[in-house]
Amino acid sequence: MSKLRVVELFAGVGGFRLGLDNTRQEMFDTVWGNQWEPSKKVQHAFDCYNERFKSGVKSNEDIAKVSDKELQDTQADVIVGGFPCQDYSVARSLNGELGIVGKKGVLFWEIVRVIQNTIPKFILLENVDRLLKSPSKQRGRDFAVMLSTINELGYEAEWRVINAADYGNAQRRRRVFIFAYRKNINYANSMSNNNAEDMLYNRGFFARAFPVESRPYKERVSSTELSGDIVQVSDKFTFKFFNSGIMRDGKITTIDTIPIFEKPTPLKDILESEIDEKYILDDQKFEKFKYLRGGKKIERVSKDGYKYTYSEGGMSDVDSLDLPGRTMLTSEGTVNRSTHIIEEKGFRRFITPVEAERLNGFPDNWTNTMPDRARYFCMGNALVVPLITRMGNEIENIEKVFPDNLSQIELF
Ligand SMILES: C[S@@+](CC[C@H](N)C(=O)[O-])C[C@H]1O[C@@H](n2cnc3c(N)ncnc32)[C@H](O)[C@@H]1O
Repeated sequence: MSKLRVVELFAGVGGFRLGLDNTRQEMFDTVWGNQWEPSKKVQHAFDCYNERFKSGVKSNEDIAKVSDKELQDTQADVIVGGFPCQDYSVARSLNGELGIVGKKGVLFWEIVRVIQNTIPKFILLENVDRLLKSPSKQRGRDFAVMLSTINELGYEAEWRVINAADYGNAQRRRRVFIFAYRKNINYANSMSNNNAEDMLYNRGFFARAFPVESRPYKERVSSTELSGDIVQVSDKFTFKFFNSGIMRDGKITTIDTIPIFEKPTPLKDILESEIDEKYILDDQKFEKFKYLRGGKKIERVSKDGYKYTYSEGGMSDVDSLDLPGRTMLTSEGTVNRSTHIIEEKGFRRFITPVEAERLNGFPDNWTNTMPDRARYFCMGNALVVPLITRMGNEIENIEKVFPDNLSQIELF
């Protein structure tokens, strides 16, 4: 079976690529990867990506500046990428492929451009779970604009919010994954007879890779249909998306599904046996973190001069070693309440960069091409690699069970 040509967007240090390289049938070949950290002279993530992966084109340019021709030349079968949650609202335009204009600088529209230039079979995207609820004044609009666009481009899509720890990993990291496949492929045709609930509980992409119970959480099942006019969706649509869903021909079904939990990996299982003393906190520094992590109520004054009380709940002084880690942020390792602090062998300390890599399932020292601060930052941006391997295995199953012949694809 021929390999699937992959384009990796917003590649960071290559979490998607690494995950796909580890699949059972090694069917993925990442032929083009793009990573560019805006307004940074030193490109730590790209340099690491370039060092770790030897084949394919590695592009270190603002994705918005990459030409259509370069994208077409990739002949991508699969597009993958994790991208920021931004404002996806659109206005009408008189020209342009979709007849709409999104806000400038919104990277989702760059993904759309890549899709238009390559027409891949499969698309796999990752985002923060807030995407399903954004913006706060028109809940669900951004995700609906995204689904409408995917529909307009000729794709069906499934999504699932996955907490990595629920499926055996060492980090409580919750992200939404979106899997889209072209409407005219054999897989889409073969699945068209399965109703949406059956797809979300049993037969769909995420249900197969990440099993769930065959009942909703608190009866949370709902459906809706997208207007064919994306501008109208952008202006008016509001809806509560649950953690799982499917969109086919603009028809949406969403369910709050319950994972069939797998034993999580506790923090103590991923600790290094020997660490440098620079990661150990003295009493003074520990007290500072203790204060930051404690509950507090602080009087503040807003920009308009109103007095209000800012309050935040308390956290334990140190992270439990018997639980998976909390979500790593890009601020990991800085003086910040979300930085992990652990206590072992009588010492209180930061997690090491290698432990940060292990929380995401990267190989040890993957990011040792850069200084510590940048290593934590890149891990805060990255994803949990074994999740991608499971998704990659599922794409390989689809390729094996529902092969396409060329003429079908050319029909598009
Ligand atoms: C959420 S991170 C993705 C991390 C990646 N999945 C990983 O495993 O490391 C998004 C990445 O997009 C990059 N980025 C932001 N704006 C970009 C642009 N205009 N062009 C290309 N890359 C960009 C950032 O530097 C960042 O590394």
